[in-house]
Amino acid sequence: MKQDERRILVTGGAGFIGSNFVNFVMSQRPNWRIVNLDALTYAGNLANLTDVSDNPNYEFIHGDIRDRQAVVKALSGCDSVVHFAAESHVDRSIADASPFVSTNVLGTQVMLDACREVGTIERFVHIGTDEVYGDLPLDRPDLLFTEQTPLKPSSPYSASKAAADLLALSFQQTFDLPVMVTRCSNNFGPKQFPEKVIPLFVTNLIDSLKVPLYGDGLNVRDWLHVTDHCEAVLGVLERGRVGEVYNIGGNNERSNVDLTHTILELLGCSKDMIQPVEDRLGHDRRYAIDSSKIKAELGWQPTRSAWPDALAETINWYKANESWWRPLKEKAAQGVA
Ligand code: NAD
Ligand code: DAU
Repeated sequence: MKQDERRILVTGGAGFIGSNFVNFVMSQRPNWRIVNLDALTYAGNLANLTDVSDNPNYEFIHGDIRDRQAVVKALSGCDSVVHFAAESHVDRSIADASPFVSTNVLGTQVMLDACREVGTIERFVHIGTDEVYGDLPLDRPDLLFTEQTPLKPSSPYSASKAAADLLALSFQQTFDLPVMVTRCSNNFGPKQFPEKVIPLFVTNLIDSLKVPLYGDGLNVRDWLHVTDHCEAVLGVLERGRVGEVYNIGGNNERSNVDLTHTILELLGCSKDMIQPVEDRLGHDRRYAIDSSKIKAELGWQPTRSAWPDALAETINWYKANESWWRPLKEKAAQGVA
């Protein structure tokens, strides 16, 4: 297979990162063909794909990754897979773990078995998360997650993602399926469903609503622009080593309270708009990624994640695209009881 003739199956390509990835790859690799398999759960949105929907190299299939027949059909003619589809919101997994085990664990197993069945897949990138490593203490800023850090997931979401990573790697070891796993930090950017902290806070403030800050607000996340993430995943797809795990981080650690203050400043709002609320159960204190492996092997760097400009640009996207997020706010509010 030549690089310029690649045909990839993207799962979950109607979600936040998946749709950014589809748009990014179609602009960077115009000769590639992309099949997007997505069940269109509450988080899937075809409005994320209007720029590519008429492109003859793009095809959308409405289907579930847990449906083996649908997956086998979608894989027809494909040489590569980028597997994003998942239940992705920690708070929902605390409210009800079952869809997380079903889609993230069993759905990934169906994906892997279907790839074995068709026998044409030369590259399988499984999209994981840094949350599988558990958390880091706030008083040890020297500690970072490396690919060797033991898995110690805290939430039903991250436990289901850890199970999926291990299944994917086991298929490489046992069946020689050409799997690679990526584990990235918190993404931000356009088209993120407004249940995640940045779009939730920005859209609340646009509506003059307060923002619910969990616990003491000191939890730290490492913020990565979604396009930096997409570029890293494309690099792993093209040049990553089979059987390897690649951490992907923004080198951009912020406490939630600092993040909130920056959002308030950028939107010209006062600190009175913060509503302290009860903490998330099992709330991980700090995530921080060591990305030196992907930087050294693939020459990747996060070039779009710098604060506060990247955050300001993201906020401007939500300000300019109210018609995109307005219908999703109600769905988001219904999500976690
Ligand atoms: P998202 O919730 O925005 O999108 C998930 C997509 O998967 C949706 O389009 C949804 O319809 C689809 N989907 C869900 N269940 C499905 C099923 N059974 N069959 C087919 N499609 C299904 O998620 P996201 O934030 O874009 O995350 C994408 C991937 O990246 C996930 O695997 C997530 O664990 C991982 N990840 C996300 C982040 C982040 O900050 N958002 C960070 C690290 C890793
Ligand atoms: O680290 C990667 C993970 O990042 C991904 O694997 C997940 O799919 C993605 O959802 C994200 O998980 P988080 O739990 O870190 O993201 P969330 O936006 O839900 O929360 C970010 C931080 O903000 C977290 O410390 C909790 C806090 N928070 C969140 C919400 C929704 C609040 O203080 N208030 C809120 O209302």
